[in-house]
Amino acid sequence: MVFTFLSTALVVFVSATGIYAESHTVKFDNKCGYGTPQLIKGGDVLTTTSYTSSGELAAAIAYLQTGSCGFNGENCTLLELTMTNPVAVGGGSSADISLITPHTFSVATSIEFYGGCDGVGTTCKSAGCNTAFRQPDDTWVQVACQANDANLLITFCPDGGSSSPSKDTTVQQTATTKTATTTKTTSTSKTTSSTKISAPTSSVAHDSTSTTLASSTPTATRTCKRKVAERRALKAHRKRARNL
Ligand SMILES: *[C@@H]1O[C@H](CO)[C@@H](O)[C@H](O)[C@H]1NC(C)=O
Repeated sequence: MVFTFLSTALVVFVSATGIYAESHTVKFDNKCGYGTPQLIKGGDVLTTTSYTSSGELAAAIAYLQTGSCGFNGENCTLLELTMTNPVAVGGGSSADISLITPHTFSVATSIEFYGGCDGVGTTCKSAGCNTAFRQPDDTWVQVACQANDANLLITFCPDGGSSSPSKDTTVQQTATTKTATTTKTTSTSKTTSSTKISAPTSSVAHDSTSTTLASSTPTATRTCKRKVAERRALKAHRKRARNL
C-alpha cells in the first residue's frame, strides 16, 4: 500500500518534471543524390543526418555541402534556424532560407516544421525564388512556429536530383502564396510579444555566421557590413510589428 503510493508519487513527479525537458529534432532529407548535409552551430558540425537537441537550438545554420560551399555555407543556399519553445506569445521557433551575399543559390531547398506546426514551411527551388532572404529587410520570408518541441525537416532537391528550376513554376507559385499567408499569420501574433522575443531569428543566425566568419576568414569588412544590415533589419521588423 505504502509502496504503491510512493511509486505513484514518483511517477507523477517524474512525468511532471519530464514535461519541461525541451527538445527539438532537425532532420535532413537529401534527395539530390550528391552532397553532404551540414547542420552547424558555433563552428561545430552537429550532424549530417539528424540531430536532437536537449533544450533549445539557437542560431544554427544548415546547407548542402556540394564541394563548393565554404564552411559557413558561402556560395551556397543557406538555411538559418532557431528552434525554441515560446516563453511568451510571439516567441518560438523560426527558420528561413538565405541567399544574401556571400550565399548564392546552389540547390533547391525546402524547410518544414513537424511534430508541431505540421506543414508550415517554405521552399526555394530556383535562383529567382522569392521565398529567400535577398537583403536583411526581407523578414517576411521567415517561417515561424509557436508550438513546443517543434522539429524541422530540411529537404534538398525536394523534387529529386533531376529537378530543373524552370519545370515547376506553377507548383512553386502555389507554394509561395501559401507561405506568404503563413508568414503573415505568424507575424501578426508576433506583434503582442515583447521586443526582445520578437527580434528576428535570422539576425541572430546571421550574427553567429558573422562571428564564425570573422574568426575563420579575414572578411572583417563584410562582417561589419552585415552587422549594419542586421541592425537595419531589426529596426524594420520592429517598425512593422508596431504598425500591424
Ligand atoms: C566562393 O566562390 C568564389 C568564386 O568562385 C570564390 O572565389 C570563393 O573563394 C568562394 N568562397 C568560398 C568560401 O568557398
